[in-house]
Amino acid sequence: MRAFASLSAAVLAPTFFFAAPQGFAQASNAPQAQPDPPQAVAQTPPMGWNSWNYFADKVDDKGVRAAADQLVATGMKDAGYVYVNIDDTWEGQRDASGVLRANAKFPDMKALADYVHSKGLKIGIYSSPGPKTCGGYEGSLGHEEQDAQLYASWGIDYLKYDLCSFIGDVMEKQAPNDKAAQMRLMQAAYEKMDKALKATGRPIVYSFCQYGWDAVWEWGAAAGGNLWRSTGDVEAKWDRIYAIVNMQAGLESYAGPGHWNDPDMLEVGNGSLTPAENRTHFSLWAMLAAPLLAGNDLPNMKPEIKAILTDRDVIAIDQDPLGKQGSRIYSEGEFEVWTRHLAGGALAVAVVNLNETRYSTHPFHLNLTKLGLHGPQKGKDLWTGKAITLTDGQPLELPSHDVLLVRIDAPK
Ligand code: GAL
Repeated sequence: MRAFASLSAAVLAPTFFFAAPQGFAQASNAPQAQPDPPQAVAQTPPMGWNSWNYFADKVDDKGVRAAADQLVATGMKDAGYVYVNIDDTWEGQRDASGVLRANAKFPDMKALADYVHSKGLKIGIYSSPGPKTCGGYEGSLGHEEQDAQLYASWGIDYLKYDLCSFIGDVMEKQAPNDKAAQMRLMQAAYEKMDKALKATGRPIVYSFCQYGWDAVWEWGAAAGGNLWRSTGDVEAKWDRIYAIVNMQAGLESYAGPGHWNDPDMLEVGNGSLTPAENRTHFSLWAMLAAPLLAGNDLPNMKPEIKAILTDRDVIAIDQDPLGKQGSRIYSEGEFEVWTRHLAGGALAVAVVNLNETRYSTHPFHLNLTKLGLHGPQKGKDLWTGKAITLTDGQPLELPSHDVLLVRIDAPK
């Protein structure tokens, strides 16, 4: 199930500074510079690591500490990966007053949070608005305020809230055969936890995981989400990764600082993805301004995977402060061309070979005019690190499932 985010009006409101005209005595109701809003989290897409994609129910205290250690040791923390997120299967039972305990895999959640914080990192956790999580563990239904307070007392910085059993146990039971009413119940459940989180006074990134249902991008921000899953689950398979990318086209207007579309966590380094597929997956998540939550086995990460995950140039595309999600500009057969507008007037261009049947006899020819560009464009090929000039009609040969990712600082 997917996550989404919202952002409060306070977070969205720009802060203006006015210079009083000469001879104008500042009235008491003159606009004042506003302090930063208290919960301005996720101003760029959240970056970190999440236990689910590789460890699933094998996650435990030791594994989370090891992931935190590795984020530091590998340089991933310095590259921007700060959230260490525990996914499903940490939950134990509630005590007589309803306070949730972690299960035996997590003997002391507060001590774990302190450890993660001591590394200069932040810690995330997972729950469901239903009675049970997707893994069948204790959910938050009827205990939203209590759970939010518990997370805050532990020092939690991020919550992924996964619809799971809320579908069958609440939506379908309370509103049988009425999909619209079911969706209203779903939205209200996400709003309820938003209020509970805000009441703690702690800045907590709020990640909606309800699989993109009911066009969550249209209401996720208003419901308090900082990110919302826009699709079902990712898998470490090229076909699934590309299917998800395909569903992101058209959602770009809904993303921005504090509220992001979430095409799900990274599978870079998982399964049998080829080097090209790992590169393309990471490049496209950057073009999509997607949260970058690595989901691999950090203690056993291969150097080539670390090189992809820590590529500063590609991360800079993802984390660009303008926060504009990229768009698919055109596709031609098995090739697609995406662009993303960046701060300072720069442009990122990604050309992807989705298949494997174009050869040098009939290479793909790049059409710069379709990208709104005129004449040769000087840029940097982000995966070779070399200067490149893109020209109109340029023949491009890309290996199967590979990408050409170019940053143009001064597009014409
Ligand atoms: C799914 C969710 C996954 C993972 C899993 C845990 O619904 O999409 O990312 O959180 O539940 O049970």
